[in-house]
Amino acid sequence: MDEKLIDAVIFDLDGVITDTAHYHFLAWRELAREVDIDIDEVFNERLKGVSRMASLELILQEGNRQNDFTLREKETMAEKKNQHYCQFLKHLTPQDILPGIVELITAIKSAGLPIGLASVSRNASTVLNALQLEDTFDYVVDASKVKKSKPDPEIFLTACKQLSADPKRSIGIEDASAGIDSIKASDMFAVGVGNTLFKSDYRVDATNELNWEVISAEYKKWIEIKSVR
Ligand code: BG6
Ligand code: MG
Repeated sequence: MDEKLIDAVIFDLDGVITDTAHYHFLAWRELAREVDIDIDEVFNERLKGVSRMASLELILQEGNRQNDFTLREKETMAEKKNQHYCQFLKHLTPQDILPGIVELITAIKSAGLPIGLASVSRNASTVLNALQLEDTFDYVVDASKVKKSKPDPEIFLTACKQLSADPKRSIGIEDASAGIDSIKASDMFAVGVGNTLFKSDYRVDATNELNWEVISAEYKKWIEIKSVR
């Protein structure tokens, strides 16, 4: 397709570039058990793309313990979860880049398009370094650069702005429901990775199905439909 129709492609990190979404889950589950709350993978879908403190609040609500801790205690709990999570990150290597991602990035770069990263994680640079992807993205927006977490559009809009991209002509790729909402609130084309992301403009079950030819063709259909409305 004519790639001039696309300004930029912005990737989420956890769960799209690498399977750290699972490590976040394991770390939260361990922390939750310490305060007698059980969480499972179904509940975990609600934590994806959500900031650290907001995730803790959702877990405490799930266990009906939202009024049982002071802010200081909650900060200590969030820090403890992060320590569990960082133990997993120590073992992360470039082998942990999810299937299809390197090929997708290569195809987008070959098309001459800029790529960005939009992650609300404060560990984003540690993860990128471990995967040896620190120089891959033209611009990285992490938790330090935005005030609001997904589903607010701030993070994707910031990435587009820094890449001189019009959001209406840009693509976002996400594995989280909050992330898809953030992309849609930015007026971008939303690519979802996961079998529950029905608000996506185009959806696959897993990263190995992400194919640039198909994504750009789906984007083109979306742009054409929008222009005749
Ligand atoms: C997001 C993850 O990328 O980052 C969330 O999807 C996580 O699960 C959030 O809570 C914040 O991450 P961190 O590393 O700052 O605790
Ligand atoms: Mg994610």
